[in-house]
Amino acid sequence: MGEQKTVTFIITRQDNPQSEPYEETFKVPYRPNMNVISALMEIRRNPVNAKGEKTTPVVWEMNCLEEVCGACSMVINGKPRQSCSALVDKLEQPIRLAPMSTFPVVRDLQVDRSRMFDSLKKVKAWIPIDGTYDLGEGPRMPEKKRQWAYELSKCMTCGVCLEACPNVNSHSNFIGPAPLSQVRLFNAHPTGAMNRDERLEAIMGDGGLANCGNSQNCVQACPKGIPLTTSIAALNRETTFHMFRSFFGSDHEVD
Ligand code: SF4
Ligand code: FES
Repeated sequence: MGEQKTVTFIITRQDNPQSEPYEETFKVPYRPNMNVISALMEIRRNPVNAKGEKTTPVVWEMNCLEEVCGACSMVINGKPRQSCSALVDKLEQPIRLAPMSTFPVVRDLQVDRSRMFDSLKKVKAWIPIDGTYDLGEGPRMPEKKRQWAYELSKCMTCGVCLEACPNVNSHSNFIGPAPLSQVRLFNAHPTGAMNRDERLEAIMGDGGLANCGNSQNCVQACPKGIPLTTSIAALNRETTFHMFRSFFGSDHEVD
């Protein structure tokens, strides 16, 4: 009987948020059409490294398994992406897995994405409601606007665009592309527009729009094809108009 084909994984591991990272190699039995998560599940089922030593199961996060929740994001062969949609057959081997470096490591490949969720709170990335009773249909959006707003609504807060952005790091408090794009989305909504000025002011200060260095890495990295740089350019215009409005008084609409 021939030897079973295996796939080699070199995984950057870290036992806790304070400890030093280290690499551990695993050889996982090959199955056709396997993705990175199915290989991680195999390691969890049988946590033995390539030297044949018993080790601890590798920790990672996942949920939807269909590139919708963003939880399984990690750096695969140097590229931040979702491990559920990363097919082993399409990856160069050995396959290197590492946690995203923009976020603090919780353990192994699991990171704490609070930075991004806190930024969404800062910019009020939601539509406020004043009750749960049925208010009937809301105001309609023009079709053209609805189409681009729908594209922005596909954001799954995976954090890949923050990982790709050179200006999002531990030395900066830049909120990054995804929360900025959400400002454009919620300001475009007829009800969300009621909080437009608060959102714009939140991104005009420290850590906001001015911290974008226009590297354009984000738009190339986003797995959902969200036009992040278009959103940032639109917000630059919106904040300029907002400055004029504040200067000349609210009765003088510029846009
Ligand atoms: S904008 Fe794209 S890359 Fe950034 S968090 Fe949203 S889905 Fe992920
Ligand atoms: S598990 Fe949800 S995006 Fe991969």
